[in-house]
Amino acid sequence: MIEELKRLVEQAAQEINQAARQHDLMQLKSQYLGKKSAVNGFLQRLVELPTAERPGFGKIVNEAKQKLEALLKSRLETLKDAEYTQELQSERLDLSMPGRRFERGVLHPITQTWRDIEDLFLGLGFQVADGPDVEDEYHNFDALNTPQDHPARDLSDTFYIKDDVLLRTHTSPVQVRVMENTKPPIKIICPGRTYRNDNDATHSPCFHQVEALVVDEGISLADLRDMLNHFAQELFGPEIAVRIRPHFFPFTEPSAEMDMVCPKCLGSGCSLCKETGWLELGGAGIVDPNVFEIVGIDGEKYTGYAFGLGIDRIAMLRFGITDMRLLFGNDVRFLRQFR
Ligand code: DAH
Repeated sequence: MIEELKRLVEQAAQEINQAARQHDLMQLKSQYLGKKSAVNGFLQRLVELPTAERPGFGKIVNEAKQKLEALLKSRLETLKDAEYTQELQSERLDLSMPGRRFERGVLHPITQTWRDIEDLFLGLGFQVADGPDVEDEYHNFDALNTPQDHPARDLSDTFYIKDDVLLRTHTSPVQVRVMENTKPPIKIICPGRTYRNDNDATHSPCFHQVEALVVDEGISLADLRDMLNHFAQELFGPEIAVRIRPHFFPFTEPSAEMDMVCPKCLGSGCSLCKETGWLELGGAGIVDPNVFEIVGIDGEKYTGYAFGLGIDRIAMLRFGITDMRLLFGNDVRFLRQFR
């Protein structure tokens, strides 16, 4: 019987060492060490032996079981190690592989221009103010001294949301909001979106303006002119002068329109400036005393200037863009050029 057991153990040991998967090991375990296994069978056959030999043989069977258990355990560990190594191999990252390409975004030409204008004025001690795109008639028109029958209120120009609520047609209502809440001296700009019912190569229903307002004692037209000159020269170069022409706006008196020397032909006349040598920049003026009265600022003590410029127009000039619709089309082929 001892010989028989020895052969069985040898066979089991061989099979265990050849097992290739953990699952096979589990099967071998139950086959050789389970309740109904051959090894256990030897214990049941103890009765066939003479009484004196039984304890000795029982011990041998137990030793055989321990040996097989140890073998199973060590084989299991070997298999686990191998599986782990294989897993590591198959999941290995190849750090030398080229990465996924990252496309760097580009700031929209309007955003670039907007930020440059902000930087310029911040450097001159201005603060940046903000106001709502959805305005009431009071701030957009009434408080800006715009009479009820002024053509700018016409439905064809203004997007009304309801009776007395509209999309602001200019950034000038921010002047009113600032003056309602701040005592002079005031020195602000407000860049923002504005809306008018207009759509062609040089007009977009949504466009951008930057408003400026300076209120203090002794502010005059000369200060306005200096500021505009400085602005144009900083953005377009030292040879770009600004001129102001008499005009009318309800909220300024006197009012002016500003032109700057055409940066393309430097004043000699070209297709961009329609042979005039000048390009229109926006409106400006000395704050009308009526507006001061409406917002509660003492017009005897204080004077102020204000102006409003089109940011889109400035961006077009700087980047040589000829159709305003390109600015709002979101075509990446166009936008990529402003890197
Ligand atoms: N708000 C005017 C417009 O949109 C532009 C303008 C004119 C703004 C005169 C001003 C100003 O601040 O003083 O046409």
